[in-house]
Amino acid sequence: MNDEDLPHGEEKARRVRDLFDAIAGRYDLVNRVMTFGMDVGWRRRAIRELRLPGGTLVADLACGTGDLCRELARDGYRPLGFDFSFGMLVAATADVPLVQADVLRLPLPDRSIDGATCGFALRNVVDLGALFAEIARVVRPGGRISLLEASQPDGPVMRAGHAVYFRRVVPMIGGLLSDREAYAYLPKSMAYLPPTAVIVAALRDAGFPNANGVQLSGGIAQVLAGTRA
Ligand SMILES: C[S@@+](CC[C@H](N)C(=O)[O-])C[C@H]1O[C@@H](n2cnc3c(N)ncnc32)[C@H](O)[C@@H]1O
Repeated sequence: MNDEDLPHGEEKARRVRDLFDAIAGRYDLVNRVMTFGMDVGWRRRAIRELRLPGGTLVADLACGTGDLCRELARDGYRPLGFDFSFGMLVAATADVPLVQADVLRLPLPDRSIDGATCGFALRNVVDLGALFAEIARVVRPGGRISLLEASQPDGPVMRAGHAVYFRRVVPMIGGLLSDREAYAYLPKSMAYLPPTAVIVAALRDAGFPNANGVQLSGGIAQVLAGTRA
């Protein structure tokens, strides 16, 4: 599949859900191996950016197998996980409430939560603007969001090395441990992701006027954080 052939709209949503249903069983293992365990530190960093009082209600959007939910609970938050892949939710080991739902249509009232997190799913949704509008709807004024996503380094050397690793090594690891086709798609799905500055601008427009982006580990991951106006 070429980048130009990436699916869009309902076709994309269906393909993404089927893909995560298929790889759910070994998703955590492949994550640890392909990031050399760095994803654990990135999640902790994302949660630190929330800076909310203990006991507050945080929706973890596209929670997958619940890694962020588990870390949120460990840090004293009350997490609620939402994901549309039943396979990922079944594979979850986090002892927190998990709900099968599309994050573009959250089963939550307006301004009902204190914060929201989202790990590695921005490029998977059909409409990023619609996701940010939905997050702005459910987070109360003064609430915080922290969104973790992969990123592409700026420098030419790091960028070239990253491209080789992501496009050649990740599918190989995926093939050995899980599903090669799925792990060939995931790097290609980076093509859906706008540059950090564009994401930050969209978050500001959506109702998070102080949103900013922080690059992690030399620019291979990023956290986008902000406060609901
Ligand atoms: C790369 S996984 C990330 C899982 C988890 N957040 C993590 O940090 O490991 C992406 C997740 O996004 C979910 N997802 C993608 N689009 C979604 C949507 N519109 N509604 C709910 N979940 C969605 C997928 O089912 C998958 O579990």
